[in-house]
Amino acid sequence: MIGSAFLSTWFPVDASTHAEGVDSAFFGIGAVSIAILVVVVGLAIALMMSHLRKPGDPDRVPAGSLSKPLLGLWVLGALALIGFVFTVGVPGFLDQQVAPYGAYEITVNAREGAWGFTYPNGHESDTLRVSVNKPVRLTMTSADVAQTISVPELRLQQAILPGVMTHAWFETTQPGVFPIHTGAYSAATHDSLKTAVLSLTAAEFAAWMATVEDIFVGRTLAEVGELLYNRQGCAVCHSLDGSAIIGPTFQNVYGFEFLTTDGSTIVADDAYIKESILNPNASIIDGFLPVMTSYDGILGDREIEAITAFLKTLSERGDTAAQEN
Ligand code: HEC
Repeated sequence: MIGSAFLSTWFPVDASTHAEGVDSAFFGIGAVSIAILVVVVGLAIALMMSHLRKPGDPDRVPAGSLSKPLLGLWVLGALALIGFVFTVGVPGFLDQQVAPYGAYEITVNAREGAWGFTYPNGHESDTLRVSVNKPVRLTMTSADVAQTISVPELRLQQAILPGVMTHAWFETTQPGVFPIHTGAYSAATHDSLKTAVLSLTAAEFAAWMATVEDIFVGRTLAEVGELLYNRQGCAVCHSLDGSAIIGPTFQNVYGFEFLTTDGSTIVADDAYIKESILNPNASIIDGFLPVMTSYDGILGDREIEAITAFLKTLSERGDTAAQEN
């Protein structure tokens, strides 16, 4: 249709499988609206012309009478119209409600000004990277204000509410960058969120996944240690600022001496830190309870090395002690 080809130049590109259902409903309803407009305005003008008072006409036009067949026709026509809108809209609507079986699950944590997209392996990204031609199901909630995820190119729009999980799904049909509009403007930045759906080819997506799955890629050893400190829950018991919580602070641990409950003194060197992580109750630091559980089987040698490197960056003796080794 030339008409819809013309109209579609005003449309964002259709980059998802939802586009067909949404656009056909839009064009269908648009076409009917234009047809009705033409009929109503045409009739109004035609009737006005045919009822113009001509010279010699009586002063008052006799009141017309209600035509029952015409009225019936109008009611049936209106019903048919509603039926039409329903039938063109429903397939696309139903399609958007239920994600295909096996869709890739991504959790969306919306905050004002900063969103997080969490992948099945626990990686959190600030852009929504997806693989082209692969259905993705979003489970979304907001930490603060009610907002919307809206991606016109994917014909995707869904409310995100605090305290409620909402869902949406989409499948991109071409690679590209499609901006996400949020409908929430941040008070802090006076700007809307700037993030996007990055639709990647299957190979690009797999390559990206490989880098985020291996936490050692693109990070220094100490950065990996810091990541593990947060991911493995060490932060619950060990502070970085010098204050004792449930366990001793991680500030100035590496290279320092500590008294243990059995009265001996230990030096927190590489070997002691490794033992503390794998077998925490072998020696208990004085003033603390033996509540730390073993990370044997959870953290490997490389991870423990990384945590040790992180502890060095937090210690005044990190450098000197390292040299002694
Ligand atoms: C449930 C709380 C808890 C968690 C979680 C925890 N620890 Fe501990 N940790 C302690 C306590 C309490 C001590 C002191 C008693 C002891 O020596 O076992 C301690 C001691 C240590 C020490 C010796 C500190 C020193 O001053 O010599 C190291 C090193 C350590 N933990 C590393 C870790 C790492 C790394 C993690 C995360 C992978 C972790 N801990 C998670 C409670 C915890």
